Amino acid sequence: MNEKNEKNENSGRKFSVAVIPGDGIGQEVIKEAQKAVDAAASLEGASFEWVGYPFGAAHYLKTGETLPKSAIDELKQHSAILLGAVGDPAVKPGILEHGILLALRFVFDQYVNLRPSMSLPNVPTPVPLGGGKIDSVVVRENTEDLYMGLGAIAQEGELEATINLERGKYSLRGHLGLLISPHVPFAAQIALNSGGGVARITRYACETARKRGEKRVTIVSKSNAAPALYGFFEESAGKIISDEYPEITGEVVNVDALCYHLVRQPASYGVLLCPNLFGDIISDLQAGLAGGMGIAAGANIGEGLSMFEPVHGSAPDIAGTGKANPIAAILSGALMLRHLGLERSASAIENAVSGYMAASQRRERPFEFSGEASCSMVGDAVVKRI
Ligand code: NAI
Ligand code: MG
Repeated sequence: MNEKNEKNENSGRKFSVAVIPGDGIGQEVIKEAQKAVDAAASLEGASFEWVGYPFGAAHYLKTGETLPKSAIDELKQHSAILLGAVGDPAVKPGILEHGILLALRFVFDQYVNLRPSMSLPNVPTPVPLGGGKIDSVVVRENTEDLYMGLGAIAQEGELEATINLERGKYSLRGHLGLLISPHVPFAAQIALNSGGGVARITRYACETARKRGEKRVTIVSKSNAAPALYGFFEESAGKIISDEYPEITGEVVNVDALCYHLVRQPASYGVLLCPNLFGDIISDLQAGLAGGMGIAAGANIGEGLSMFEPVHGSAPDIAGTGKANPIAAILSGALMLRHLGLERSASAIENAVSGYMAASQRRERPFEFSGEASCSMVGDAVVKRI
């Protein structure tokens, strides 16, 4: 496709996006992401209407609600959600994260958590890259595994729990009854990987590899220790790959070994297909190896409404100081543009970010990289390059 056709295709397209800035630096970085998306989309003649939603700590403390049902119906009208971060020291940990973030992921069955990781110029990395560049992407299953919310604590040695769960493509009902002798306190948490769940995330990982022009997908497993849960994941993923993507090799690596390899050779991986738990952990490791939370972008993708958000949280330690790095949020905006078919705009943002980092003097860089540029100054510098 040449540039002219692409321009014609998207010219005049209008998108309505729900913005949930959330708490702490979420409020600060999301503004910069919106600026960058507006500037990039206008290159293709597309435009964005932003509809703000107040969900987060302040709203919860005032009204007692996290994510009301009426909001979910309203959110469905939009093309996407752009989210900053939720979480506040004034609210018990977990209430906002579960009530807003995880709720949105489950309600809209956003089964893919996509977390790319790439080297940027002038970003110090904790381990030498050996002349290589990190350019990998964690494709994390986002609805199953240990994150089904099915757990209980037994103080008296006996655990009884009823399971009644509606989740995307299936419902799960049953009963968990466990008795431990002698009667000591214990806890149990159910992890589940389903055939359909593994199949759809594996297909997404393979399509991602195809788009990247790669012939390898790394299946992150731990079947030696948890043969049922991860043996099933690894075998189901391997079968989908060999049946449907003959050109791709599904390479199985246990998660502990992967951590070791990643630290020694951070630049040697491409698509990392992960069950939910390992994907959560590996993507933070990748973010750290690439240089920091302030550049780690993320997307939660499903067949319905998808949601784009930086990997980082609300960073109460730097909120309000202007020291937040908005690059992660800006790059999450690029993932949103790509998802909506605005490939040229997405690339424009990515090129502007690396161009700005390459050309910047130390002082012009984000505080995170020993610079002195405030959140909005970084946003402005990126917009200028778009
Ligand atoms: P965090 O990601 O907010 O912060 C970890 C560290 O990284 C802090 O030192 C922070 O200053 C730094 N950092 C994070 N983002 C940065 C940025 N853009 N620029 C510069 N420095 C940055 O994780 P933490 O401290 O564990 O959690 C804080 C709150 O955020 C908690 O309430 C937590 O539950 C919530 N949280 C929310 C998430 C979300 O909404 N997606 C994800 C992770 C945490
Ligand atoms: Mg995490």
